[in-house]
Amino acid sequence: MTAISWTPERFHSLAEFWPTRLVLESVALNVYGELAERPLAAPELADRLGLEMRAATLFFDALAALELLHKKGERYVNCAAAKRYLVPGSADYVGHELIAAQDAWDVWGRLPAALRSGERQREDRVFEDDPEAARHLLLAIHRRAEPRAREMLDRGWLDLKARRRMLDLGGGVGTYSIVFCRAFPSLHCTLVDRPTAAALARAEISAADLEDRIEVVEGEFEAVELPPSFDVVWVSNVIHSRDATANLDLFRRVYGLLDPGGGGEVIVHDFVMEEDRTRPAPGAVFSLHMLLNNGVGRSYTFGEIKGWLDAAGFKEVERIGDHRDIHSLVTGKR
Ligand SMILES: C[S@@+](CC[C@H](N)C(=O)[O-])C[C@H]1O[C@@H](n2cnc3c(N)ncnc32)[C@H](O)[C@@H]1O
Repeated sequence: MTAISWTPERFHSLAEFWPTRLVLESVALNVYGELAERPLAAPELADRLGLEMRAATLFFDALAALELLHKKGERYVNCAAAKRYLVPGSADYVGHELIAAQDAWDVWGRLPAALRSGERQREDRVFEDDPEAARHLLLAIHRRAEPRAREMLDRGWLDLKARRRMLDLGGGVGTYSIVFCRAFPSLHCTLVDRPTAAALARAEISAADLEDRIEVVEGEFEAVELPPSFDVVWVSNVIHSRDATANLDLFRRVYGLLDPGGGGEVIVHDFVMEEDRTRPAPGAVFSLHMLLNNGVGRSYTFGEIKGWLDAAGFKEVERIGDHRDIHSLVTGKR
């Protein structure tokens, strides 16, 4: 049985990508930020954005046609939706997602080369080498992850009431540490991530007033010194960017960081694929994103994840959630 209903209209809609590219480009160029203060005529707006005048006029008119800009005489002004969602700094800003998508677009354009060579199509590594791209991507992930974290708690997927010390491995900007600390008053977290994420995490944790309960450790997880004293290790959206050997190494290290007294657990949160690797569908598509971006990662099946956890020494490995959930949890006890 298929959940996707393929009709001629649906196929046609796949070809209607021009407005998408137009809007992504306008956000990446910060058209709406430039217009935040006052309306501007095409020559001044083009000049501020470094665009050629004739091309820029076509561009601004198309954005007006899409009702993101209004045209008042010869001047352009932000429409209400652009003011609310596309001006950097506004409370409902969605630009990080769109700028991250714009970045991904260029890499996806090299899909044919990736399919022929099997090789990654990006020179740099986003999280390590490109702080600006990493910032947009991490804040985009944060925006989507926050409601998901709360939903997991609402669904009773994890109960950390009895937990005291959580390691948030590759914790990004601190989304899960913050949501979990708010929900479970006895919990303290240590978040490990690279410099760009660590700086953003410190800011989010400070804004949440949780500096006394969430510590940020900056560096490569493999290299930083950590005490073997955690009773839970949270590994969210990390394994999909690594190969099998790197994941087995990671889980061996995680095992060694859990309190040797026992009772600790690892919780993996990621796309968890059915054994035929086609469901959940977003996970199958995401595997191509990993091929394009880092060449080694992909979405893994429950069997593969369980295999690494078993080999690392974990017991009672279980999956929480199923193929109807975009992401599931896999847990293992020390
Ligand atoms: C896709 S983001 C996920 C962020 C967060 N855990 C979440 O699920 O929303 C992956 C994060 O893991 C970090 N990461 C991956 N491998 C790492 C390593 N070896 N050491 C430190 N951080 C790592 C990246 O820098 C990035 O911030």
